[in-house]
Amino acid sequence: MTRVAVLTSGGDAPGMNAAVRAVVRTGAARGMQMFGVKHGFAGLITGDFIPLGVRDVGGIIHQGGTFLGTSRCDAFKTADGQNAALARLRNLEISYLIVIGGNGSQTGSYALASRGARVIGVASTIDNDLFGTDISIGTTTAVDTALDAIDRLRVTAASHERAFLVEVMGRHSGYLALTAAVAGGAEAVIVPEFETNPQMLVDQLLASYERGKKHAIVVVAEGAKYDAEALVRYFEQHQPRVGLQLRMTRLGHVQRGGAPGAFDRILASRLGTAAIEQIGNGQCNCLIGWRGSRIEVTPLNEVVERIKPLDPLLLDLANVLAT
Ligand code: F6P
Repeated sequence: MTRVAVLTSGGDAPGMNAAVRAVVRTGAARGMQMFGVKHGFAGLITGDFIPLGVRDVGGIIHQGGTFLGTSRCDAFKTADGQNAALARLRNLEISYLIVIGGNGSQTGSYALASRGARVIGVASTIDNDLFGTDISIGTTTAVDTALDAIDRLRVTAASHERAFLVEVMGRHSGYLALTAAVAGGAEAVIVPEFETNPQMLVDQLLASYERGKKHAIVVVAEGAKYDAEALVRYFEQHQPRVGLQLRMTRLGHVQRGGAPGAFDRILASRLGTAAIEQIGNGQCNCLIGWRGSRIEVTPLNEVVERIKPLDPLLLDLANVLAT
């Protein structure tokens, strides 16, 4: 009987549970023996495995987070850590490992694959910066969570005729910021991929007030060169000249929580099942993603150390529609 283990790694993302459920149930339906690894790569090193049957993944499709637990594991970045993980897989006679996670996690998958393990990655990160997929598990729910906050802030911004700055997650990627800005009708958006200095933002906001606007929402990605704190400081320091005050809300980890929306549950179910199908086809060392309206399989070596570029047309759209 083929023995398959699944783990969730890196930042949790809404829909990870649905992906584990799909992996376990599809694997069991194909006659595989399924295991979960607790706490991501950390549990792989310490050998924290649990057997998973179809009933063990019941009642979780609607839950955010990951019931397996996750971690950012520095020990796994070392040769010793990777060898220890490999030894655990071999001792338990696990033939395939499925890693549900984002960029750092799939770099870990590739490291294990390079040492001889058979690994299949499943794209999951709220940042949506993973190469090899249009969209990752968790992203759309995180955008909706940010959007809910933006909509609420716009209510009070309009009532008081104030300008608000909303900082969303995205270490290296502006995808969350940009999509939340377009959907929330933001007056300005600042992303790491395209540099905006604070004076450019002042000019943009003053121009929008000249066009008749009376309040403003600015969305900024945490990874931008000038993050929310830097922008607020600039506005304070130049207050007499700028004449505008920015109130800041940092959404932070709020965006990672919450129940997965329908899209993420379905995406997770499809990608989790596709990971098992890859095993059935004798394929491994690849990332399972979603391109257009189909499953996309990309070799792990083409995924690592690449960041998916932001669509510049979406930025143009945000700016045009902000008028
Ligand atoms: O998982 C991606 C992410 O949420 C990034 O957007 C963010 O910068 C980072 O994780 C935060 O990581 P941690 O929860 O480890 O502080």
